[in-house]
Amino acid sequence: MSPQQDAATDVAAKRAKVITLIQRKGGSGKSTVTVNLAAVSGENNPPETSDENCPVVAAGIDPQGSLEEWSRRVPEAKLPFDYVVTKGRLQEIPKLVDDPTVERIYIDTPGFMDTDPDADLDADPLGTGRAAEAMKEVLELTDLAVVPITPDFLTHSPAEFTIERVLKPRGVKFVVLINMWDSGSDRLQNDLEELREWCRERNYPFIKHGVRRYKIHAKAPKEGLTVIQYAESGTALRAREDFYKLAIAVEQEI
Ligand SMILES: Nc1ncnc2c1ncn2[C@@H]1O[C@H](COP(=O)(O)OP(=O)(O)O)[C@@H](O)[C@H]1O
Ligand SMILES: [Mg+2]
Repeated sequence: MSPQQDAATDVAAKRAKVITLIQRKGGSGKSTVTVNLAAVSGENNPPETSDENCPVVAAGIDPQGSLEEWSRRVPEAKLPFDYVVTKGRLQEIPKLVDDPTVERIYIDTPGFMDTDPDADLDADPLGTGRAAEAMKEVLELTDLAVVPITPDFLTHSPAEFTIERVLKPRGVKFVVLINMWDSGSDRLQNDLEELREWCRERNYPFIKHGVRRYKIHAKAPKEGLTVIQYAESGTALRAREDFYKLAIAVEQEI
C-alpha cells in the first residue's frame, strides 16, 4: 500500500460516528438525551491538549435552538463537548463527519409533521423545504438513530411512524429509548416493562435500561448543568447513572 493509500484508509476509518435523536413528537426527550449523552461521551474523550478541539460534538439542526440555549448556560470550562447549531443550513454536518479530529456527533432534530396530509402512504413524510432537507442530510450520515418514547401514550404512534416511514425505508439502524419511566411511585403500573413489551411486539430493538424520570433532568437546562455535573450521591446519582448506562449501550450499537 502506498503512503497515500494508507492515509486514505486512516481517514476513512476515522470518520466520526453519528448518533441522531429522532422522533416526530416533541416533548419525548430528544434534546435532553442529546446534551447528556454528548456530556458523558465528552467526559470520556477529552481533547489531548487544551488547545485541541473536543472530539465530541453535539449538533442541533432544530430551528428552536434548545441545544444552543442550554449549552450556552453551561460555563465553558465545564462543557466537555463542542456544539454547533446549524438552524437547517446544509453541508455543516457532512464537514464535521469528515473532520479527522471529531469522533462522535450527537444530533438533536426537531419534531416533524407530514406537510401534506393527503400525500400517498408511501410518500416521504419528511416532505420538502429547508428543515426537511436538513433532516435528510443528517439521516444519510446517521450510524444509529435513537427514538425516544415515554409512558405518555401520545409518544407511541409518532415513534412507530418515525421508524416505519422514515428510518426503515432509508435503512437507518435504530434503537428505541424508553425515557421518563417512573421507577417508584406506582409499582402496579410498571412503565418500563409495558414499554419494553411495546417494543417486543413490534420487533423493535430497545435500550434495556432506559432513562428514568427525575425532576433534576428538567431543571438542568435552566441551571446550566449536564448530568456529569450532578451530585454523586442520592437521587442525582441515580439520575446520572442512567445516562452512563445509556452511553455504554449506544457505544455497543455503533
Ligand atoms: N428523563 C427525564 N426526566 C425528567 N424530565 C425529562 C426527562 N427527559 C426529558 N425531560 C423533560 O421533558 C421535557 C421535554 O424534553 P425535551 O428533551 O425538550 O424533548 P424534545 O427535544 O423531544 O422536545 C423537557 O422539559 C425536559 O426537561
Ligand atoms: Mg427538542
